[in-house]
Amino acid sequence: EMADMKVPGRGCTAALAVLLTFSALGRCAEQVPLIMWSSEGSATTSPSPPAAGHVVSGDQLESYLRAALSSSPHNVLLFMQERLSVDDFTMYGGVFGNKQDSSFTNLEVTLQSSTTSLVLPAVDSLATGEVTGLLQEQLDTSPLYMDPETLAQLRLNASVATLLVFRLPYGTGVDMMSTKDVLSGNDDVIGQVMNIMNSQSVPYTAVYTALSASRTIEDVPLSLHSVGRSLLQSRQKISPPVEFQEKGSTCILLWAENLNVELLRSGKWERHDLAPMTFGESSRVKLSGSFCNASHSRLVLNYENVLNFRSFKLIFAMSQRHYKVSARRWFTMDQVVLEYDGQKATFNASRYVYAPAEYSYRCESVSSFRYAQLFPHSDKDRANQWRLSFDDFQIQGFNVTGQDFSYASDCASFFTPGIWMGLFTSLLMVLILTYGLHMILQLRTMDRFDDPKGPAISVPQTE
Ligand SMILES: *[C@@H]1O[C@H](CO)[C@@H](O)[C@H](O)[C@H]1NC(C)=O
Ligand SMILES: *[C@@H]1O[C@H](CO)[C@@H](O)[C@H](O)[C@H]1NC(C)=O
Ligand SMILES: *[C@@H]1O[C@H](CO)[C@@H](O)[C@H](O)[C@H]1NC(C)=O
Ligand SMILES: *[C@@H]1O[C@H](CO)[C@@H](O)[C@H](O)[C@H]1NC(C)=O
Repeated sequence: EMADMKVPGRGCTAALAVLLTFSALGRCAEQVPLIMWSSEGSATTSPSPPAAGHVVSGDQLESYLRAALSSSPHNVLLFMQERLSVDDFTMYGGVFGNKQDSSFTNLEVTLQSSTTSLVLPAVDSLATGEVTGLLQEQLDTSPLYMDPETLAQLRLNASVATLLVFRLPYGTGVDMMSTKDVLSGNDDVIGQVMNIMNSQSVPYTAVYTALSASRTIEDVPLSLHSVGRSLLQSRQKISPPVEFQEKGSTCILLWAENLNVELLRSGKWERHDLAPMTFGESSRVKLSGSFCNASHSRLVLNYENVLNFRSFKLIFAMSQRHYKVSARRWFTMDQVVLEYDGQKATFNASRYVYAPAEYSYRCESVSSFRYAQLFPHSDKDRANQWRLSFDDFQIQGFNVTGQDFSYASDCASFFTPGIWMGLFTSLLMVLILTYGLHMILQLRTMDRFDDPKGPAISVPQTE
């Protein structure tokens, strides 16, 4: 049972199976994020979020809410938006675009300042649509539909459970307002409500979610494989991917623009890019030690003389298995290992690097320090002395057909804790910049000497 809780379940088929099993609705399942935070409680009481990629079902959401409310205040604010998807955070949250221009500023500030918070990036939209009902049941009170003006006039009592629902729109594209403006407006409402709650000093729990997804993740039909391929072919002209063959057929493909490894030596990071030695004309890489079988595959890149180590190996270990809940096979990249002159540095990757087994995994950047997707396995080996970052990274370890990658499952639209950390960091930068600018504007030049109207400076003349 527990193993099934940790199912990577991105994509429509994943949830579709659940849908078909539990309800007869024939539509494609949608995933909606749910964010919950509280004015009280300590970080230790925060419920732990599910594994990345797992789609939270209705029952699981119910237990998350119950666990959260057991230790959080019973004045609940529910921000129920018409539609929302994780992609809205990446598109309008200023993660990849202009960081100063986020549509979620108040939400970010609020989350940053609350000690307890929980981010569920993918909840079945059938469940988020029912959140009002679930909360109503657990709090044993009926919902009051509110706007900030009404709230300001309401006197809340900390010992009486309340459920206040704020309905928020989502840009439809029909009217003149852009989605970005609508989301910024909603964020202002959240900001106002938070201010009112803080001024009333009544402890609260808040939930931000939506009735349905703003974007449906479509399952990619097989015919699209060829589109993925032709896109990749243009890139492959630069240099083909590394290809490992077992029994005459290709079973692992790897491509990256950079494969940077950095070692901390006497206080300085020394970097080496393994890509030129790996891809293209000047490739000197050997693949001995690599293997594939139905459930595991392992790509071993063997180098010589890297960062003064005589032998140096970069190893990608992958596995695939069938997950009952999503009713499909997923592969995960479990570990990335460096082996050099008898020493070892191991990084875990399986929480972030995964894709449906018949697809490839692609990511603009896979890194152990920027938006970390690779985590030092333990303190026992040398991983803490190393940093890895692979740019424009693509890997496939199963179901390879021919010499091209299958359709790529891209990490970009995924909402990792790393991205949130990025959001907070950029916010901090803006604050520091604003403060700096403020200080600069406060500077005054000494005007005594260049004010033409002031008294002239007289220099005594000597005869
Ligand atoms: C809050 O509610 C409790 C129980 O109903 C009541 O005893 C208390 O007086 C109320 N407090 C305020 C400030 O209204
Ligand atoms: C595949 O390889 C892994 C790792 O060596 C091994 O544990 C597993 O039993 C193998 N599976 C099959 C079907 O051979
Ligand atoms: C890495 O994975 C191992 C086993 O799967 C686990 O014991 C360890 O805690 C993980 N380390 C991190 C930092 O997640
Ligand atoms: C993928 O590979 C597995 C094991 O090699 C095989 O059982 C399965 O049918 C393949 N799936 C597709 C879609 O080719």
